[in-house]
Amino acid sequence: MTRIPLIILGAGNVGRALIRQLLEAAPLHAARDGLALPIVAWCDRAGALVEPDGLAPETLAAAEVTKAGGASLAELPQGYHQHDLTAIVDVAGTDGCVVVDVTASADTAPALELALRRGYCVATANKIPLAGAQATFDGLVGSGRFRYESTVGSAVPVIETTRALLRAADRVDVVRGVLSGTLGYLCSGLQAGRPFSALLQEAMSRGYTEPDPRVDLGGQDVARKALIVARTLGWRLEMADIQLTPWLPPDYAALPLADFLARAAELDAGFAAQVTAAAAEDRVLRYVAELAGGRITVGLQAVPTDSVLGQLRGNDNLVAFHTRYYPDSPLVLQGRGAGVDAAAAGVHSDIVAFTG
Ligand SMILES: NC(=O)c1ccc[n+]([C@@H]2O[C@H](COP(=O)([O-])OP(=O)(O)OC[C@H]3O[C@@H](n4cnc5c(N)ncnc54)[C@H](OP(=O)(O)O)[C@@H]3O)[C@@H](O)[C@H]2O)c1
Repeated sequence: MTRIPLIILGAGNVGRALIRQLLEAAPLHAARDGLALPIVAWCDRAGALVEPDGLAPETLAAAEVTKAGGASLAELPQGYHQHDLTAIVDVAGTDGCVVVDVTASADTAPALELALRRGYCVATANKIPLAGAQATFDGLVGSGRFRYESTVGSAVPVIETTRALLRAADRVDVVRGVLSGTLGYLCSGLQAGRPFSALLQEAMSRGYTEPDPRVDLGGQDVARKALIVARTLGWRLEMADIQLTPWLPPDYAALPLADFLARAAELDAGFAAQVTAAAAEDRVLRYVAELAGGRITVGLQAVPTDSVLGQLRGNDNLVAFHTRYYPDSPLVLQGRGAGVDAAAAGVHSDIVAFTG
């Protein structure tokens, strides 16, 4: 049996889903893959559980329920207060372990870098370190022991596909992506003739948006994903190099949330007019990340209705690669780009891929 100890940083929606998946899949991994994946440490912002022999399944299951109830891991009988993720990696790390980052924090980078210096592997769903300075990306990914499939399109294999194209020395000319399920949902609704403000309320009540939906509407998250794909292609860019046009006019970004929501209907007529103007040219609106000629642009575009992006509906993600070997009809990946189980599955797959 191959034993790969796991140190899991983050116990939010994705972290908890990952714990559930690992517990459920343990018999399968043992029988099919000859693989044991003991969790030797699990941390949230304030607390940690650490057990070098592997935390017992019942301890993890109870901790998962505790976290779902809003408490900290520090409050568990076996838990203790942690303020330093590098110390956790230092104490719990052993040869052959994988450090897993399912936080949404910039603060994990030192712990990930320490793990790589020690020769450990890292699997992450956290875009923030990878979309930070180019040098940080180079240090993490250049180690060759760093997987990050869930950072773009959840488990839709955007990163692996990008790498496969590069391995074949294909020339990637243009990548176009719809990388936000939330904004895709709004675009589909606008196309169906619905007002922006009503769609926004619906997206919020269905839990598709962040608590303040302007986090999604600002386009930063899409820009981060586009930057990660571009850097995976070998392009050297910083966030500041991205030509980002937020979905919302700047005046609305600065308002208190309640005022913004009260005034969202002011935007209905403008979006309806854009939809009508696009339709007159047989186009539809999509919030697109486009990588072309070494540059990234992110913003609302009117794309041909019969294009792959134009055909997209609902909150799926889609990435189209136009390359030397896919010149006319692009290589297209499409699927659920959000959802905690899909994100956790991408990380789960990355962990197991280290054994391959
Ligand atoms: N949700 C999705 O559908 C999805 C899809 C693809 C990728 N992702 C990515 O997956 C990651 C996790 O998403 P999520 O929805 O699970 O987020 P979340 O619910 O906000 O959970 C984040 C977790 O990280 C912990 N954390 C934050 N800073 C930390 C620190 N410095 N040290 C230790 N733990 C820290 C938080 O601790 P506390 O519990 O103590 O606050 C929390 O447990 C994010 O990077 C997200 O972008 C999510």
